[in-house]
Amino acid sequence: MKIGILTSGGDCPGLNAVIRGAVLKGGRVHDAEFVGIRNGWRGLVQGEFMTLDRHSVRGLSRQGGTILGSSRTNPFEGANGGPENIQRTLDAEGIDAVIAIGGEGTLTAAHRLTDAGLKIVGVPKTIDNDLEATDYSFGFNTAVEIATEAIDRLRTTAESHGRCMVVEVMGRHVGWIALHSGMAGGAHAILIPEQPKTIEQICEWVEHVRDRGRAPVIVVSEGFLLAGLEQAHSHKGLDAFDRPRLGGISEIIAPLIEERTGIESRATVLGHTQRGGAPSAYDRVLATRLGMAAIDAIYAEQWGSMVSLRGTEIEVVSIADATIGLKKVSPARYDEAAVLFG
Ligand code: F6P
Repeated sequence: MKIGILTSGGDCPGLNAVIRGAVLKGGRVHDAEFVGIRNGWRGLVQGEFMTLDRHSVRGLSRQGGTILGSSRTNPFEGANGGPENIQRTLDAEGIDAVIAIGGEGTLTAAHRLTDAGLKIVGVPKTIDNDLEATDYSFGFNTAVEIATEAIDRLRTTAESHGRCMVVEVMGRHVGWIALHSGMAGGAHAILIPEQPKTIEQICEWVEHVRDRGRAPVIVVSEGFLLAGLEQAHSHKGLDAFDRPRLGGISEIIAPLIEERTGIESRATVLGHTQRGGAPSAYDRVLATRLGMAAIDAIYAEQWGSMVSLRGTEIEVVSIADATIGLKKVSPARYDEAAVLFG
């Protein structure tokens, strides 16, 4: 069997570990051959491939990014897009099945393509941890570690100057990175898209902290909505394949805090530092296990399925279940953290 692998959407620490896990297991257990599909769905639409064998995956589990390249190309668009053209490209390359590693947009596309008869198995990928039907996605743990280290560092400089620090982390639609890094870093408030707050509420927390003689540290997701100030947001209607350009909410909040409380405030946007570099040990293990499980799903001919983490086990679920909507932070999880705010 010849298996094509692609990585699509924003990159994520652990992508290379998935590729390595799949290539090593497929080669050793099934004598499978592999081909790398370049730059996500674009490689299938435009016929861009690369050699992928056990030599090309040596030492790969600790390497950030993706050796295959990635893009946010929609496989249904363009003259060579759509299931029939893509199947023709696969046939010409002798590819029997595809492992598609990606987030919601990628998996939604994979689902549509399998409905049209293509043989695809999905692997969930997102630092945002917003995919349904998997408890955690690889990349999330690494992003939380990076954000937590940044919060720790910002705290000492905040305390030296008696300043308020507003730390902006990724999370377009959900607040998992903010929730976990904020809890780990002992933030005095965590602001997430699922829980709009007013500037008055935020300033109240900040003043409590200042009144105790401490320097306030606020963690905010890039997709957070400041209640009552909707016009200050530059949020656009985004579809899964658009290049998102959110960010900057910390730069709105920090001056408002300074203006209203008199506490000197600074904004820090962590941005893509959260996605770059080596995956954590946890993410390397998770990603490797998912890559190996994708091979099992292919040999079991479970087309339209996705490998997923449930508790400590890797299971096979339907891609349809993973793409029914985003996995949000529940009010209970937020309230649990909010006990420590202020
Ligand atoms: O979905 C993952 C993610 O990192 C989001 O947290 C972020 O909003 C977005 O991708 C950034 O995308 P890009 O790299 O295209 O700017």
